[in-house]
Amino acid sequence: MKYPFAAVICLIAGASLCQAADGDPGRGAQIYQRCLACHSLEHNRSGPRHCGLFGRPAAALPDFSYSPALKSSGLVWDEASLDHFLENPLKAVPGTRMAYAGVKNSQERADLIAYLKSATRDAEKCPSGSSP
Ligand code: HEC
Repeated sequence: MKYPFAAVICLIAGASLCQAADGDPGRGAQIYQRCLACHSLEHNRSGPRHCGLFGRPAAALPDFSYSPALKSSGLVWDEASLDHFLENPLKAVPGTRMAYAGVKNSQERADLIAYLKSATRDAEKCPSGSSP
């Protein structure tokens, strides 16, 4: 139960310490290269764009055609749900169209999630109109 604990630390100590506890966004940016085959922050590709991802319910973009499985998953994207989904997407959401084996290394996932958390909130990387 690493993430609920980290969330409490975040509340007490603020976001900067929270990021250090969760992972390294710089290393996460490198790991995100694996996702670029199908995703980008700004634009839909074969996968949905990631701008505004944190705090957004799964399958929320009106202009992307999601699988019924992801639409009915009931997930909201945060550290815990991303950690679970990215470890093994097809197991976490059977029927998802994200045909990707996942990021098996938990430190790599923590780094990736730390990156996503900052990058998907960055107004410069997410031009207006690219969030739902
Ligand atoms: C082979 C292409 C492919 C790769 C590689 C891929 N994805 Fe995806 N991803 C998709 C598709 C397609 C969907 C939509 C899934 C659905 O509708 O079931 C998706 C959905 C998602 C979602 C849900 C978004 C939403 O709006 O609900 C997240 C989060 C995500 N991917 C993260 C990642 C990350 C992080 C990586 C890299 C570690 C990655 N994906 C790699 C194709 C891919």
